[in-house]
Parts: sequence; C-alpha cells; structure tokens
Amino acid sequence: MARLVAAGKLRATTDFSALNDADAVSICVPTPLRKTGDPDLSFIVSATDELVRFVHPGMVIVLESTTYPGTTREIMLAKLNETGKVSVGENFFLAFSPERVDPGRKDWTTVNTPKVIGGITQACGEVACAWYAQAIQKIVPVSSAEVAEMAKLLENTFRMINIGLVNEMALMCDRLKIDVWEVIDAAATKPFGFMKFTPGPGLGGHCIPIDPLYLSWKLRALNYTARFIELASEINTNMPRYVVTKVQDGLNDQGKPLKGSQVLVLGAAYKPDIDDLRESPALDVIGLLKKKGALVEYHDPYVPSLRQEDDVMHSVPDLMASVGQADCVVIITNHSSYDYSAILESARLVVDTRNALKTSGKNNPKVVRL
Ligand SMILES: NC(=O)c1ccc[n+]([C@@H]2O[C@H](COP(=O)([O-])OP(=O)(O)OC[C@H]3O[C@@H](n4cnc5c(N)ncnc54)[C@H](O)[C@@H]3O)[C@@H](O)[C@H]2O)c1
Repeated sequence: MARLVAAGKLRATTDFSALNDADAVSICVPTPLRKTGDPDLSFIVSATDELVRFVHPGMVIVLESTTYPGTTREIMLAKLNETGKVSVGENFFLAFSPERVDPGRKDWTTVNTPKVIGGITQACGEVACAWYAQAIQKIVPVSSAEVAEMAKLLENTFRMINIGLVNEMALMCDRLKIDVWEVIDAAATKPFGFMKFTPGPGLGGHCIPIDPLYLSWKLRALNYTARFIELASEINTNMPRYVVTKVQDGLNDQGKPLKGSQVLVLGAAYKPDIDDLRESPALDVIGLLKKKGALVEYHDPYVPSLRQEDDVMHSVPDLMASVGQADCVVIITNHSSYDYSAILESARLVVDTRNALKTSGKNNPKVVRL
C-alpha cells in the first residue's frame, strides 16, 4: 500500500466529489445482517445515494459486496435511472462482480483468483470485463448481474452447508465414540468426489455465517424456505454451546464445577493467523462460559482486546503462566504461532476444538477433543 501511495497510484478520500474525475468505480461496502437477521443494505444504499450525485456518462460501476440476487438491478440501477443523467448499457455501465478473498491467504490473491463478472446488459458486462482484465489474470464473464450475485451465494452456501455437515458428523461421532478427525482424514484420501471440511467451534467471519442468510431471506419473500441453509445454520450456531458442554464434561471428570473454574480461551479471531473478530465463535463461547459462572480469560497474539457484551477483555500478557494457572484451556482458534506441545505439557485440561494437538491429543486423559 505504501509503495502505491508513494507512487501516486492510490489515495483515499471521504470526499465523494472525487467521483467527478473517476471513470470506473468499484463498490465494496459491508453487507451485514440487522439484529433481526435480515440483510442490512444500508451501506449499499448510502454509497449509491452518493454515487448518483456524481454519476456521469462514460462511467463503469461494479458492485462487489456480497448480496442477494437482484440488488444491483433493483436497488442500484433503480436509483441511477432516477437521475435521468445516464442510460444503462448505452452511456454508463453497471455490473456485479463478487469479491473472492480468503484473508491471510498467500497462494490465491486478487490477481490470480478468477473473477466472475455479470452486467446489467451485455454491453455492461463487456465494459466491466475489459476494465478488470487489465489487472486480473482470468475473467469469467456471465450473462447477467443476477448470475454473478447468485454464484457468490452458491460458493458461500456450499461452504456453510459442508461445515454444517461435518459439524454434525462430529456430534454423531461423539455419540458413537469414533474419532471424527481420523474419519475425515481417511475419507479425504479419496482422490475424487470428496472435499475435506473440518468441524470446529462454530462459524466465523463476515461471509460464511451471513451471506447464505441473504439468500434465505430473499427466498422467504417468494414463499420458499431454503431448508439446507436453515438446517446448517442451526447446527453451526449451536456449536459454541456444544463446546461449553465439552468444557463442563472435562472439568467434571476432574471433579470440578464450571462455576468458579478458571477457563483460558486460546484464539479469539475467527480463523488462524488473522486479527478478524467478526462473528467469531470465540465471542459466543466466552459469553456462554461467563453466563455459567466460569472465570474466563483469553489469549490471542492478533487480538489485544475485545468487547464481549458490556465487558472489555484484554489478551493475557503471559500466555504460558495463564495456561499453567487455568483449570481448563480451550483452543478455539489454532494460530500457527502457538507451541501446542508446551501448552499441552503445562495445562491441566485442554478442550481442543480444532485438532490443534493432533495425535498428541488422542487418548490423552487431560485432553477433550471435538
Ligand atoms: N473481506 C473479505 O475477505 C471478503 C471476501 C469476500 C466478500 N467480501 C464482501 O465484501 C464486502 C465488504 O467486506 P469487507 O470485509 O471489505 O468490509 P469492511 O467493513 O472491512 O470494509 C468496508 C469499507 O466500506 C466503507 N464504507 C462503508 N460505508 C460506505 C459508504 N456509504 N460509502 C463508501 N464507503 C463506505 C468502510 O469505511 C470500509 O472501509 C462485503 O459485502 C463482504 O461480504 C469480503
């Protein structure tokens, strides 16, 4: 970023009049859920409201925010049309192209990840593709903005449902007293027709737990229940509760109640080696443990502090001292910087929700695995 800024190629501004000089606009605003679980499109709406003030002939506009099919046409195009300043597909071009980013990933970056682009009209798609092709190695044109919007939701729904399935596998294996991690590794040796997903303490991030709900919301309005999404969502949402029962069981086996026990949560970010807390299951696990009277602390090398309901918590300063003091250590996020064998060595009890301890956690009386 510093290099691009120094070279005069990149600058940031909150002054929308900069759009007067822009021929091409990408919109990547957040698309969260409201408290009620409905899509919150207010960021797309406010960005479009600013845009309509400065839209001019010759402009190409691409929405990248994940959203339900129809948003680009029903919300953005409708507002842009109202200005009477431009005519879509003729003197301005509007398209949707989903952001496909896996934060922290080094092998698949913006440059080499294929980019799906769908225009409001064919000309819109062609102009947007011509623009993005200057920077991205592979462009995948599709026939409409709606196809591009829906393709992103298929990608994320696919992940959400498969994570739900493998989480349910973990619940079933627990009852059957079978090691789910060994089952998954065995199944993953099949060279075709299987894709490996792993269970965990619940879904996190601003995409996988949220985006499929944009789709189910849209379908509800059409009197259709997106059953797979609702089922997977129910299983995934309950995983933090399941983790808490594992902590309770582990402590129980050592003759301790959860209430009053010191519990150290390792990893607060929603996935390893990043600092993103959004929708992290760690927040749910911490909240549930506190409600049951546990004395909870956390450690995360990437997250110095966090807000859990009304409480601000700080990552413990001395990891190994806290591991040694805790009645139970719960591994929620398997950051690669942790020395898991040292943690196992000094902990009294470890609940490992990510198989971070690998085989050393297996058949170990002080380890409870998911
Ligand atoms: N980050 C990812 O890994 C990722 C991956 C795939 C898809 N997405 C999608 O991309 C979208 C953005 O996600 P994000 O993680 O970058 O969100 P973010 O919250 O990190 O960033 C959004 C940016 O939009 C700005 N913003 C908010 N309202 C605005 C407005 N009215 N006008 C102009 N700017 C405004 C904010 O200041 C912020 O800089 C979401 O729809 C998300 O689902 C993100």
